[in-house]
Amino acid sequence: MTDSTSRFFEKNRKERLDVVEKIAHLTKQERETLESLGGIGFEQADKMVENAIGTFSFPLGIATNFLINKKEYLIPMVIEEPSVIAAASKAAKIARVHGGFTVRNDESYSIGQIQVVNVDVESATKKILGSTKEILSLANSKSNTLSKMGKGAKEVTCKKLGTPVGPMLIVELLIDVGDAMGANVTNTMCEGVAPLVEKITGGKAILKILSNYSTRRMVYGSAVFDKDEVGGEKTVDNIILAYQFAANDEYRAVTHNKGVMNGIIAAANATGQDTRAIEAAAHAYAARTGKYTSLTEWSKDENGNLVGKIALPMSVGIVGGIINVHPTAKVCTKILGIESASELACVLAATGLAQNFSAIRALASEGIQKGHMRLHARNLAAAAGAGPDQIDRIVEQMAKEGNISINRAKELLGQ
Ligand code: MEV
Repeated sequence: MTDSTSRFFEKNRKERLDVVEKIAHLTKQERETLESLGGIGFEQADKMVENAIGTFSFPLGIATNFLINKKEYLIPMVIEEPSVIAAASKAAKIARVHGGFTVRNDESYSIGQIQVVNVDVESATKKILGSTKEILSLANSKSNTLSKMGKGAKEVTCKKLGTPVGPMLIVELLIDVGDAMGANVTNTMCEGVAPLVEKITGGKAILKILSNYSTRRMVYGSAVFDKDEVGGEKTVDNIILAYQFAANDEYRAVTHNKGVMNGIIAAANATGQDTRAIEAAAHAYAARTGKYTSLTEWSKDENGNLVGKIALPMSVGIVGGIINVHPTAKVCTKILGIESASELACVLAATGLAQNFSAIRALASEGIQKGHMRLHARNLAAAAGAGPDQIDRIVEQMAKEGNISINRAKELLGQ
């Protein structure tokens, strides 16, 4: 955290942009992209989807204070929900006391699946595994870019699936996709090798498609939250109780994980990721034991400080896809200062853990409505016509009276 980012929320828009421009070394054009509130124009939108009639924008904010693997980050977040960016920044500030977030991810392997029917699965499996080299070489011939980088298809595995309509062979290609999200190249490789797989097995290949359950792109993070900063021993204990609720009850776990995803998806949106893929994989992982549970774990260390851990699959990319075409996503990726997809995965996991911390800390102490109602009061005061110099006083008065409504905001404005 630098002096310029402290009390970031008190700065006006220009001051915030000045700070971001300086820290992220934005060019004049990149700053203009942020100032223009633009994103993409209609022509781009029309090329991206069918039947386009316009574009749709969301707030973009910056979460501050993040120290991840000893590196400072400003995290751009695109989200419509109040409190999320403030909560992430606050959690990151507390995490800094004990060194910030430590996050690692081991590999960037995408999984492609080829569904083969009308085969004797056992003998077909032997034949496929015996032809691994040939299959990998054909797969890799479909991407010069990955091959040149020493990446690309690395492993072939087989599994037998028993189904009510008979057994199936599922051939899986494990592809090191490097800094790409990798959906396109994975699908291309699967489709490319399917005729060979049919020839080897004598079966029929039906689906050839990437699996979004990206368990070979796991990310693991942790942070220690100082007990005094958290609010004392009682709050630490209550947070652990809140976690145990989520760990043991799927109704609570879904909401708990929604809090985690508030952080991850907001930062993923800002950097132009396929957020549906991230969500789908995260929830499948949360249910990996057969019972849906928390994506995070909370406990105490020997000093009574709160320890948070997160683990989830994270399939993200910084080359290809929307990042090539969306100017704001490009600038946000620059603001993050990341150099690889792995680094982005680590940042997203840290943001998820931070978000979850703030949510359960609020829930386990004063509740979340107090903060929400203050923001709501600000919105009401603005909707009633209060100017920037009047909003704080009106909010203060409404909070004091416990009467937060548009009518009261109008009355106070009249006075
Ligand atoms: C609201 O968007 C997210 C929370 O409900 C998460 C949680 O309950 O842990 C506050």
